[in-house]
Amino acid sequence: MRIFNLSIECYPVAKVGGLADVVGALPKYLNKIDGVEASVIMPWYNKPFVHDHSFELVFDGWIHQHRQSFQVQVMKERSKVLGFDLYLVKIPGLLDRDNPYGYWDESQQFLAFQHGVLHWLTAMEIRPDVLHCHDYHTGLVPFMVENCPEFSFLKGVKTIGTIHNGEYQGQMSWEMINYFPWFDGAKWGLLDWDGYINPLAAMIKCCHSFNAVSGGYMDELFENFRGLETLVRQEYAKANGIINGIDTEIWDPEVDPFLAFNYGKKDADSGKWKNKKEICEEYGLNPNLPLFSFIGRFAGEKGADFLPEIVWKSIRETYGALNIIILGSGDKNIENQLSELSHSFSNFALDLGYKEYLSHKIYASSDFLLMPSRVEPCGLNQMYAMRYGTVPIVRYTGGLRDTVEDISTGGSGLNFGEASANAAVHAIHRALHIFHKEGLMKQLVQSNMNFDFSWEKSAEKYLELYEK
Ligand code: ADP
Ligand code: GLC
Repeated sequence: MRIFNLSIECYPVAKVGGLADVVGALPKYLNKIDGVEASVIMPWYNKPFVHDHSFELVFDGWIHQHRQSFQVQVMKERSKVLGFDLYLVKIPGLLDRDNPYGYWDESQQFLAFQHGVLHWLTAMEIRPDVLHCHDYHTGLVPFMVENCPEFSFLKGVKTIGTIHNGEYQGQMSWEMINYFPWFDGAKWGLLDWDGYINPLAAMIKCCHSFNAVSGGYMDELFENFRGLETLVRQEYAKANGIINGIDTEIWDPEVDPFLAFNYGKKDADSGKWKNKKEICEEYGLNPNLPLFSFIGRFAGEKGADFLPEIVWKSIRETYGALNIIILGSGDKNIENQLSELSHSFSNFALDLGYKEYLSHKIYASSDFLLMPSRVEPCGLNQMYAMRYGTVPIVRYTGGLRDTVEDISTGGSGLNFGEASANAAVHAIHRALHIFHKEGLMKQLVQSNMNFDFSWEKSAEKYLELYEK
């Protein structure tokens, strides 16, 4: 079975968040299964990866969008070190940029990528068994495959849509229809939602099957999906929930090259301690205190706006009996508030920016990882933390609900229900009690490290979906 994953992020080529981790791991694990050939197709960005690797030109052509012509070149990565074939689609002027997001012409950019991919596959008569589309950025593919005469060669190819984040749907005004490769007015209903072209809604309507990245999140989408609730209810027969895995070859404290001190289950206590001591010395924190951390985008979904109050209250209320380290960036207001706090409190360290190596060090050295998310479709941080023997403290929502069980019901993490700074601070107080109970912390470190979140199980679930 031949599967093409279409995504605008993929680790290690270009990563903004968990989408990249998933797209960089799922095909690798699918390829370990006999008879499966999974690859990734993504845009060509100006990234170090592109300069460090060697590529072969496999297609050179042109697409036309709204009376403009764009060259489309498809480059295949040669090294095969990733565990899957990687194709990068080069569209000078639209895709050769530093980042996947944040440009004024985003709608045209994503449209051109989808158009370019289908144009290449059609021109070269490449017909995979499944086109697996990730998030709204590639959500128009199922519509185009079934409805555009230009791609009639691909008609009937099965399409799967994965919803990594339903908060973003890619709505665009109907004027953008001029940029589509083709349009038949009779088909407008397949693209429209509430007066806009809505790529995520179009994906749900036109794909053969779709899934959210956890069962818990899929359940939530039926109730609250930023206006698409009625649509998913109508299409419930195509809906699935498949929890993400983690790439246990990359995320392995025993061999992780980013760690100063590697460790396994047997020497987790001493290993974590050495890593903690190192990071605390670097950031001026006291290693004898419990270390709490947060890693992520400073966005409302992540509950990042609660962080300043969480830092302030938890340090004040405990008279400085804990350390907090935060790695992330995003909302400038949150960045500024946290910066000010980091100057006022010696127990609080802040590193603004995106630093892959530092995230690994923080997962390894922390005692607790905090995720006060309002919305969390799956969440990978808690699974990385657990693999590194760090106890997750999470709000009970979406994928966090499916992966972290509270210690009071036999689990090895902490849950809290309300999306608020107070609820998170209350959970931090509970965590401090645990930290000081002899033996209990040790036990939690071990049981978290024993969890199996590897991709093997989830890759099998995707295969079942493809086969269906
Ligand atoms: P999302 O994709 O919604 O941001 P996930 O939990 O699925 O959330 O994945 C986040 C991924 O991005 C994890 O691999 C996490 O370690 C990483 N990450 C987030 N922020 C940073 C940062 N500032 N520096 C390094 N890695 C980060
Ligand atoms: C999205 C979600 C996150 C999920 C990731 C990978 O970015 O916000 O919860 O883990 O996609 O599926």
